[in-house]
Amino acid sequence: MIIAANWKMNLLGHDARDLASEFQKIAKNQSVSDVKILIFPPALYADIVNDVCDDERLSWGGQNTHIARFGAHTGDISAEMYRSVGARYQLVGHSERRADHKESDSYIGAQLRAAHEAGLHMVLCVGEQLDQREAGDAEKVVTEQIARALDEVKEYLPDLWDNLIIAYEPVWAIGTGRVAEPQDVFQMHKAIADYCTHSLGAPQRPQILYGGSVKASNAQTLFALDYVDGALVGGASLQQDAFSGIVAAAIAVQKG
Ligand code: 13P
Repeated sequence: MIIAANWKMNLLGHDARDLASEFQKIAKNQSVSDVKILIFPPALYADIVNDVCDDERLSWGGQNTHIARFGAHTGDISAEMYRSVGARYQLVGHSERRADHKESDSYIGAQLRAAHEAGLHMVLCVGEQLDQREAGDAEKVVTEQIARALDEVKEYLPDLWDNLIIAYEPVWAIGTGRVAEPQDVFQMHKAIADYCTHSLGAPQRPQILYGGSVKASNAQTLFALDYVDGALVGGASLQQDAFSGIVAAAIAVQKG
């Protein structure tokens, strides 16, 4: 199980420092085999977070990467730069970046390329809008997002699958308090798994995380579902209690 914290554009430096050391305690309180915790902090807090990571129970990654290694791209950061200061993971294709920065599937694929070439594990975020779900198109939208992104990294397949995690985040469930129904989560995760192995040639199904209003109170039900390998957590990752409750739910399911 992987429980990933996406801090998004939240926390001031001193808050990030406090929360990072709480995360270190949460990670230390469990045995190595239990749950892997990831933090995706604002890039400025790389050092703060890197200091508490051990890369066994706790690792971190960038929320976004440029597609080039270096160059005249003021304000941007490359995957290789992240790697050079200790990142092991890279978030790619979050719906907020798709919306705020008009990131397309092919650009997201190029980000996968950059992350893979930098030697990072990738968490590819996909998810449908509410109107797409209501129209019955959710699975089509999500599988196409995956296919189009992977189309950009064809020459790295099948090896790239080893380092690719998919995060299914229905856009309408993000930050709304409205979590997807367990049956819908199961169905989508299974559809993603089947699509990756049957249509995209993955040697085995990737790990698949669910994201969208995950809290301690709903985590255990989600984690008990087949094909759910953990969560990508936004709001609840900003509070130590809420986040440790989610980690505890993952441990409980794993042990049960
Ligand atoms: P919330 O947990 O706040 O709904 O955010 C989910 C998310 O976008 C994680 O990447």
